[in-house]
Amino acid sequence: MDLELRLSLGAEDTLADFPEGQARFSPTDQDTQSHPAFLDLFQRVVDGLPEQIALVDEKWHIIAVNEAWTAAAKVYGYELAPGADYLGFCEARGREGHKPTRIAAAGIRAMDENREQSFRFIYEGSGAWEGKAFQLCINRLEIAGHSYATVTRYDVTELVNLRHMREDFASSMIEGQGIERRRIAREVHDSTMQLLACLGLSLGQLKRAKRSKATAEIVSEMEEMLGEAQRELRTLAYLAHPPQLRDLGLVEAIRQLADGFGRRTGLKITVEAENSVNVCQNTQLAIYRAVQEALSNVHRHAGATEAFIGLHARRSTLHVVIADNGRGMPDDLHLGVGLASIRERVAELGGRLSIRRGEPGLVLVASIPLRAALRAVGGMACRGGPILSNVATVHGDSGPDTLLTS
Ligand SMILES: Nc1ncnc2c1ncn2[C@@H]1O[C@H](COP(=O)(O)OP(=O)(O)O)[C@@H](O)[C@H]1O
Ligand SMILES: [Mg+2]
Repeated sequence: MDLELRLSLGAEDTLADFPEGQARFSPTDQDTQSHPAFLDLFQRVVDGLPEQIALVDEKWHIIAVNEAWTAAAKVYGYELAPGADYLGFCEARGREGHKPTRIAAAGIRAMDENREQSFRFIYEGSGAWEGKAFQLCINRLEIAGHSYATVTRYDVTELVNLRHMREDFASSMIEGQGIERRRIAREVHDSTMQLLACLGLSLGQLKRAKRSKATAEIVSEMEEMLGEAQRELRTLAYLAHPPQLRDLGLVEAIRQLADGFGRRTGLKITVEAENSVNVCQNTQLAIYRAVQEALSNVHRHAGATEAFIGLHARRSTLHVVIADNGRGMPDDLHLGVGLASIRERVAELGGRLSIRRGEPGLVLVASIPLRAALRAVGGMACRGGPILSNVATVHGDSGPDTLLTS
């Protein structure tokens, strides 16, 4: 029997980690008419694995299950042996108020309606599994024109805990940075700005006291430089200030940032955004900081008169665009701290950053998956965020003018 089973079933590398359509049996003609030939092999492959795995047919009836599945069903007291109607079971349990099965049923119906290849979500266990986190993955399989699916449930408690620990650490760091930024902003405003203001007053007195024309010209030049330094410091202090994302929401906070930054620098900044962008707090902050950094670059490096900020959700991805009409990227681009930190933050959220030539100027595009469950672990990036999702794939359309993508 020529049976090619392209499933790798290690502890971390489960069925769920395979890209869509890659999990595939290739049976010979004689296998196509009936299940048993490949079922035998399926059974041998999946038995003994720690994940609970079931194979279901087109109508979501269970054809085969592994030992772990049977053991778990026994703990629950569920009738989920071959022959059982898996969707019917999920719907019935869902109606009784069991949330994970309700989500699974909704996911399966959506897969049927949209012919989607996979569905996965993470949930917290209850009863015997209190304190544990599980991922349920449903992946379609095509076997010689017949449609099947695997249903896999496995314990992701450790991954979730690790992710939460990292998240807690990251948010305390971010909070710390916010406090530090606020302190610097206040210091810049209270000390340096006041000093410069006093200096300005002294210069004014000097100009009036000395009658020499040459001296007056020098003093005027100094006044201009002083004004410039004050504007720069104001801009710096403004950028250092932590955003009010909780109060304003992302879009309004960005509008206010653009407004304030535009007034201070003379840049004409247009913001085009959908009114509510529904992403978690961490993502909001990452986007806000990216826009801040990008605007600061436009001001410092681009020599631009106009900038554009766009936030657009397309399917399952949020695209954040920051463009300007300046001189564009130098040929020998060196990533500094700014662009590198934007790239890192975006990557952390499972997204990517691309830097492209504009006509004229420069275009930064940060593409961030909107739904949390992008990957098994990446999906847990946002605590409290949505956990229900179909698998999203992010493709960057890196054109010939893309200078750098991550
Ligand atoms: N909007 C822009 N227009 C032109 N050049 C830019 C722009 N943004 C960034 N750059 C170039 O990319 C380099 C790296 O930027 P960045 O990583 O933010 O570091 P830094 O701003 O500290 O130099 C800049 O030094 C500059 O040469
Ligand atoms: Mg910079």
